[in-house]
Amino acid sequence: MSTPAKTFYIETFGCQMNAHDSEKVIGTLEHEGYSRVEDEEAADLILYNTCSIRDKAEQKVFHRLNEYKRMQGEGKKFAVLGCVAQQEGNKIFDKAPFVSLVSGSASYRNLPEMLVRLEAGEKRITGLDDRQTEETFDTEFTARSNPHRGYITIIEGCDKFCSYCVVPYTRGKERSRSSESILTEAKRMAEAGYTDIQLLGQNVNSYHDPLGKKSFADVLAMVGELSGVRRVRFTTSHPRDFTPDIVQVIDAMPSICDHVHLPVQSGSSAVLKAMQREYTREWYLERIAWIKAAKRDISMTTDIIVGFPGETEEDFEETMSLLDVVGYDGVFAFQYSPRPNTPAVGMAETVSDEVKASRLQRLLEAQRERQRISYERHLNQIVEVMVEGYNHQRGQVTGRTSQNKTLNFTTSLPILPAIGSYLNVRVTKTFPNSLVGEAVSAA
Ligand code: 5AD
Ligand code: SF4
Repeated sequence: MSTPAKTFYIETFGCQMNAHDSEKVIGTLEHEGYSRVEDEEAADLILYNTCSIRDKAEQKVFHRLNEYKRMQGEGKKFAVLGCVAQQEGNKIFDKAPFVSLVSGSASYRNLPEMLVRLEAGEKRITGLDDRQTEETFDTEFTARSNPHRGYITIIEGCDKFCSYCVVPYTRGKERSRSSESILTEAKRMAEAGYTDIQLLGQNVNSYHDPLGKKSFADVLAMVGELSGVRRVRFTTSHPRDFTPDIVQVIDAMPSICDHVHLPVQSGSSAVLKAMQREYTREWYLERIAWIKAAKRDISMTTDIIVGFPGETEEDFEETMSLLDVVGYDGVFAFQYSPRPNTPAVGMAETVSDEVKASRLQRLLEAQRERQRISYERHLNQIVEVMVEGYNHQRGQVTGRTSQNKTLNFTTSLPILPAIGSYLNVRVTKTFPNSLVGEAVSAA
């Protein structure tokens, strides 16, 4: 008699690293004989992959766990993964005793063994002690959710210890995968029909090949050269480790996307110092100058924190001025929030919530106006898009450009272009956050 398949439901919050970790966790569970369900009521095991980067993440997690509580009598098991799991550890069992497994990302490679213990009825199983590991979570069982565009983690953890950030504490020590293992995975993806590969890492350009063979720029080129690969993206880059050869490889290889996400966090050298970013405004702008000197038009985006302890109006004005000096195509801006265990948590908060909110709004408004102008440069250009979906109501196809911009377009073709296909599109209208166009030809 065969036993019925065990089922699981997974909920994921946070960054692309977390989204991709979940793809690996899903692949691992499926390999261990579980099948995924989209309805939590139908699941034997409920997993919750958490994020603690900003705001009151811990409270949100405990709130959600409270909602799960009503299902505990149904024989279900519960697992909490990710950054809040690592940060709160055993406290999760105390507050939510129906949870049986708590694991941070540095321990996911032990999941098969933890699952066996879970099935045996063990309680309080933890994966919390691997943050000093040299190992990375390499698995061939990744369940990628998109058949055309896929992630590859090339570096895990972070050793930068910016004073506001939880990541070094939740994701552990920085460790790179070997260039050979990256190549094997990228080749397998290319053979399976992936054309768009995104290399991931908290600081992707801090990559150090444990085999000592390849620099980060070499890894970009290695993946970009693979037959079938049309686009290689990479995120996130850290200014400290941003080198000119990255710009050179973008210039030399059309398959490397013309987009760099380079978080600045603040435009004031004094604030950068307090943030322990270990660079100044001038140092950052030098890297921006390299990018601007490229032959290709490389799109630049950034992350900014407003209201860091000690940030004065003058400091903030320096951040605002960066918008003009750099000319970003996108800004992700956040109000500073103190995070547990970080050095900044001990700094007196000098900026009120009202001032933080107003600075955020001023920044985003100024950036929107800038983007309205900077996106206009694409008017009448013919750009290549990868088809992502359809908006039937508007009669439009949605695509993404190499610069990671959304382009909604019409086509006179009798059949809609397939998702994952590439087309050349003429841009006929621009907005601050998207482009509109008409298909010209297959690409
Ligand atoms: N408060 C506000 N924003 C933060 N970020 C990281 N930590 C904090 C914090 N404590 C932002 C940074 C980072 C992005 C992923 O989140 O801008 O680049
Ligand atoms: Fe990702 Fe950072 Fe959130 Fe962790 S804390 S899940 S690394 S965004």
